Amino acid sequence: MGNIKKDKLGKNLKFADKNFWENKFYSENKKGKIFWDDSVYANRKIHSLMEKFLPTGNKYKVLEVGCYPGFKLIYLNKKFGYSIYGVELIKKSVERTLSNLNGAELKGKVIHSDFFDESFLKNYSSYFNILFDYGFSEHFKNFDNVIENYSKLLKSGGYLVIIIPNLEGIYKKFMSKNLLEKHNLKIMNLSVFERTINQKFKKLFCDYVGGIYSDSSEESNIALLVQNESTRKFLLKLFKMLNKVMIYCEPFESKTFSPYLVYIGRKR
Ligand SMILES: C[S@@+](CC[C@H](N)C(=O)[O-])C[C@H]1O[C@@H](n2cnc3c(N)ncnc32)[C@H](O)[C@@H]1O
Repeated sequence: MGNIKKDKLGKNLKFADKNFWENKFYSENKKGKIFWDDSVYANRKIHSLMEKFLPTGNKYKVLEVGCYPGFKLIYLNKKFGYSIYGVELIKKSVERTLSNLNGAELKGKVIHSDFFDESFLKNYSSYFNILFDYGFSEHFKNFDNVIENYSKLLKSGGYLVIIIPNLEGIYKKFMSKNLLEKHNLKIMNLSVFERTINQKFKKLFCDYVGGIYSDSSEESNIALLVQNESTRKFLLKLFKMLNKVMIYCEPFESKTFSPYLVYIGRKR
């Protein structure tokens, strides 16, 4: 763990540092409940894309980078049957992830390491079949280096799934400058995002996903990012309303309103 202190790639390559992540906590998983809610349109769409392109079976090993709280790992095991691995920078988050997996009666390996740590990258070189990134890579300036490391960790032909928030559309307006600064907004331009990843991966899918943000759960990313309590409450109510409407009207995706960018591809 000495490597975490050394912060190998240098502080200025990270938009969000260790301090920032140490203070981010979500609610605990209650008795293995899966927190990737299918009543939210964007989630349903993401799930159907993953089901379309990803293989199933316990011979496949998946790594989630920045895996706390572990809910996506639970989903990946329950839905696809994968053997689950996570890498996580914060020790307390490693412990909480393990406890959430335990709550879902799952066994998984959660590696306490900086993703950029050379010994981590070496130990797990060409080890995984699937690399899963939900809200991780957009916190680094050196996106191409992150992608290069994903390629190193994957076996030949391995699958890459990246889901990042789209903060270049209207959602930019909801966030404080301080929080926006924790994100790499440049890669939220679809062509930059796609071009960078395509250097190492062959695209299966890449686009903006979700008609408009409508996650009204307490774990909602945008609600968590909005610090003002009354704005947060208002947004959650609005999302709840929007979500009801969207059940009847599957929306169109766009650069302005879609809440996510999604990439699914295979290692070249
Ligand atoms: C936005 S959260 C991701 C949440 C999770 N993927 C999910 O979908 O629920 C980012 C996570 O990455 C972790 N993290 C940040 N920098 C890291 C690094 N260099 N190596 C490993 N984990 C890191 C943070 O501690 C945090 O738990």
